[in-house]
Amino acid sequence: MKIVTILGTRPEIVKLSALLPLLDQNFTHVLVHTGQHYDYNLDQVFFEELHLKEPNYSLNTGSHPQGRQTGRMLEKIEEVLLLEKPDLVIVQGDTNTTLSGSLAAAKLHIPLLHVESGCRSFNRRMPEEINRIVADHVSDCLIAPDQKSVNNLLQEGIPEGKIYPFGNTSFEAVVRNKEFIRQKEVLNSLGLEKGNYVLATIHRAENTDNPENLQNLISALNQLSEQILFVFPLHPRTKKLLERNGIPLSSKIKVIEPQPYLSFLALLSGCRLCFSDSGGIQEEALVFNVPCLIPRNETEWIRLVQAGKNFLLGTNPENLISSVKKIYFDQEEQEKIKQIPCPYETDVSEKILALIKKMERGGCD
Ligand code: UD1
Repeated sequence: MKIVTILGTRPEIVKLSALLPLLDQNFTHVLVHTGQHYDYNLDQVFFEELHLKEPNYSLNTGSHPQGRQTGRMLEKIEEVLLLEKPDLVIVQGDTNTTLSGSLAAAKLHIPLLHVESGCRSFNRRMPEEINRIVADHVSDCLIAPDQKSVNNLLQEGIPEGKIYPFGNTSFEAVVRNKEFIRQKEVLNSLGLEKGNYVLATIHRAENTDNPENLQNLISALNQLSEQILFVFPLHPRTKKLLERNGIPLSSKIKVIEPQPYLSFLALLSGCRLCFSDSGGIQEEALVFNVPCLIPRNETEWIRLVQAGKNFLLGTNPENLISSVKKIYFDQEEQEKIKQIPCPYETDVSEKILALIKKMERGGCD
């Protein structure tokens, strides 16, 4: 069986990192990188740290407005698929790479497997929401991370036989790499003390593209930084938009470069709380039992919020400030959150492998 996997951004590399070696070992596996992410810190360093093979195709698409980026990737992916003629295409998540890969495969009638199917924020202003919906509706095998996602898919009329509720690959990636984290070394190099800082990331288009939203978030961080140490790995998207809109960051915030995977996990494992609009970090925080405070109005990972592990704060600066302070300074509350049980699965890639082997013997259902 010949499989083409298409990826192009940091989260896709991380969330497929356990599955890719299994595909290499068991099938003829062709890896296609769209080049949506191209900075060393957002791309190559993850291949190195996670010991992944170099892509067979690098499409070097780069950064463009939504339509142009998606269109260029679609055109180039189609060329690769026509040449390689795979039996199966695999995509992950909700990025423009996911959308282009899904459309290219579906239009060429190549069976498509989508990892992380069924997540919904119900906010169609997010490019990711559109990408997820389209990818799910043209996929043949939908790997759902949780029951909520299964329900979303069923409600949208996707046949049950196409849905595989195997779980979430983020967790297994963290568990697999936990032992390689050098927490002390990373914290020392940044002059940090375990448990005495908040790890913050902001990069979502919905939070950064609108200058008013970005200003609100940053003004909350600036005010909070008077009392709380924030460590802020700055995504290139956010950096560019802060500069363009002349929004200053307080000098009390510890701004650092986007981190390699293992260093980021080290920072996550050592923080008191994290504050992030990233989807992946909401999941990764659970493995370290660190509460994740989410500066958004909705999340795809509502299960973790409903369990009481993560908190959806909205984007109003006053609310953000009071909610962060309330949890950061209340040790009893933090202990309570840590005691809440919230299981997660760690064998998702193995299950996907078994499913593909079954398909090899005769069909997805
Ligand atoms: C993309 C995904 C988002 C994911 C995020 C992880 C979409 C719609 N969004 O957002 O779901 O959470 O990746 O990081 O696919 N840039 C660089 N260097 C790079 C990549 C980007 O400087 O290597 C800058 C460019 O200025 C670019 C901007 O970031 O214009 C946005 O990049 P893009 O890939 O369009 O989206 P992300 O914000 O990274």
